[in-house]
Amino acid sequence: MVKQMRTIKGTHDILPENSRNWQNLEKIIHASASLSGYSEIRTPIIEEAGLFNRGIGENTDIVSKEMYSWTDRDNKTIALRPEMTASVVRSYIQHNLHNKSVLQRLYYIGPSFRRERPQKGRQRQFHQFGVEAIGSANPEQDAEVIALGWEILKKAGINNLELKLSSIGSKECRNKYKNALINFLKPHVSKLSETSKRRLGNNPLRILDTKNKNEIQIIKSAPKIEDYYTKEDQDHFDQVKIFLKSMNIPFTVDPLLVRGLDYYTQTTFEIISNDLGAQDALLGGGRYDGLIKSLGGKDTPAIGFAAGMERILMALDDIAINKKTTPTIYIVCIDKEALGSLQKLSTNLRKIGYKVLFETLRRSMRAQMRDANKYNADFAIIVGQQELVNKTIQLKNLSVGNQETIELKNVFNYFKSLTF
Ligand code: HAM
Repeated sequence: MVKQMRTIKGTHDILPENSRNWQNLEKIIHASASLSGYSEIRTPIIEEAGLFNRGIGENTDIVSKEMYSWTDRDNKTIALRPEMTASVVRSYIQHNLHNKSVLQRLYYIGPSFRRERPQKGRQRQFHQFGVEAIGSANPEQDAEVIALGWEILKKAGINNLELKLSSIGSKECRNKYKNALINFLKPHVSKLSETSKRRLGNNPLRILDTKNKNEIQIIKSAPKIEDYYTKEDQDHFDQVKIFLKSMNIPFTVDPLLVRGLDYYTQTTFEIISNDLGAQDALLGGGRYDGLIKSLGGKDTPAIGFAAGMERILMALDDIAINKKTTPTIYIVCIDKEALGSLQKLSTNLRKIGYKVLFETLRRSMRAQMRDANKYNADFAIIVGQQELVNKTIQLKNLSVGNQETIELKNVFNYFKSLTF
């Protein structure tokens, strides 16, 4: 027997029964982003690996452990993008987008890749949508971006949301804080896990994110980042909070919020769903004022977020997203002589917005009616030999159950006059 091929670990097919939910979510994203003045950007899935090494940080888990990269035939190191911010910034610099507008409001939807241990809500190929606002250093920009993320999740139908907000301060603040944290943790080093010991050397802030009970206890008395904020850091953070309050967006300040990417400065945030398990982060982001310069562009402030689309769909109540919006007609043709005229009718009905399902298997009337129910059709147009002779159709209203005879030439106008 020939061996069947299957998807590789951590990747999934999106099957027809689910693709509608994806399309609905995509529609909400396009509509909301556009209402706030954001334009879509699409960048390649593969990039030079150096973009992510420099952009996200070589010591992050994403780059050091999880990135898919390989040496290509021309000896360049290529990577599948593990996220899209670095790609968007690369594109912004490459195409001098700042010349087109001092403030670029961009959004994107697409797959990203991380070689993580797959589990519920965590895949190796997953889909993100995100926004990047490049050009404004002001706190109202932070609030706008956070509000847009919040609003999209709400519009998608997720209710049990929690916004966690923090500021990791400017570079100056963070360097001082890192030293303070290292000095605080050093006497405890023997009690730290192997991972945290390693992080102490290359990424000490990540230790704050530990799930280890002993370490959580130690961290309780660790120095706090807010004690290291510059006046500007503090003012910026205070303003962001004021703007969020004025938009009625509830949040909790979480000083232990640690993001897994190195490019952040000042504001960071995550939106979690209390309905999900361990992988509860639906959306994460923050300000990254140094990234554009570090990738070869002008010194430009920016802020953005990305959200995991699989996680959003998991958190959604299926009923909320499965709402049928397009009226559907099922054409039940039981005399092949009528195929031509009914196919023409289908095309015309589609032009005025109906979804029309046309039988191409020439099955029995019973089988076709069963199919019409399966597809939740609102109407069935039934044509057999008698209707063919009389130039009529039987119109069955499947939601009410009644049936009437209509002349074929009047069917189009009949549907045109209906309102939904
Ligand atoms: P991130 O927190 O690494 O941030 O990812 C954002 C979201 O992508 C997560 O909250 C989660 O919902 C989803 N996600 C991440 N990894 C996986 C996975 N393996 N499986 C399923 N979903 C996943 C970023 O990617 C930044 N680029 C966000 C950003 C944009 N910051 C500024 N601008």
